[in-house]
Amino acid sequence: MILGIVAALHEEIEQILADMAHGATRQRIAMRDYHLGRISGVDCVVVLARVGKVAAAATATALIEHFGVDRIVFTGVAGGVAHGLSIGDVVIADALVQHDLDARPFFPLHEMPLLGLARCPVDSRLSSQLRSAAGTFLQERLRQTTRPAVLERFGIRAPRVHCGLVASGDQFIGSAQRVAALRSSLPDVLAVEMEGAAVAQVCYEYGVPFALMRTLSDTADDQAHADFPRFLREVASSYAHGILTLLLQSMRTERG
Ligand code: ADE
Repeated sequence: MILGIVAALHEEIEQILADMAHGATRQRIAMRDYHLGRISGVDCVVVLARVGKVAAAATATALIEHFGVDRIVFTGVAGGVAHGLSIGDVVIADALVQHDLDARPFFPLHEMPLLGLARCPVDSRLSSQLRSAAGTFLQERLRQTTRPAVLERFGIRAPRVHCGLVASGDQFIGSAQRVAALRSSLPDVLAVEMEGAAVAQVCYEYGVPFALMRTLSDTADDQAHADFPRFLREVASSYAHGILTLLLQSMRTERG
């Protein structure tokens, strides 16, 4: 079993890369570095996809075709769209949609033309392992890895894990109007980001199991960009590392 671990921004994988530094090798393909090694006894290929759907799809394709990964996990941040979600909560996708895909009148809104599908599925087993890892991290590890002053600064008090629809598009959403538009076209959407549905489509087409977790860095409104770099550095990085480490440990246990 080889797990592909993908993120869009450096901070989202830097700690996990540090864990595999010993004995890891690196291969550069199409302007990306793929890091091969073992973490917690699991063979992994870790890669920074960069931002956006094209970059994400190209990366997922290389992971499958060139490195033979047989499952992929995406980690990163997202903007919360559904009411009641808070910064610091974690969203695990149960399906993904490209919110900016619109080939009407030839195909229904959001449908991937000629694929006959608007929402890409995730692997239920991998997603439920990711969900348990996220729950354990928030309950047992968050306060060991993130300073109280940092949690206070971002208003993170009792963060929760949510499971539901994640929407991806080649746009950073940062206004109340755009959040309202997303809620109206996709009433059940939980969070918005810029890569997940592209990786989900590639995995769907190849039949490779896929799961995605996103830490909410903002609520996609006018304040979305304000503390974004600081959130990545001080919060998202520890979330991604903590949750992936627990996921890898559960995969090792599963294999005996
Ligand atoms: N990733 C994190 N926050 C986001 C937002 N508001 N829009 C798109 N992608 C994001």
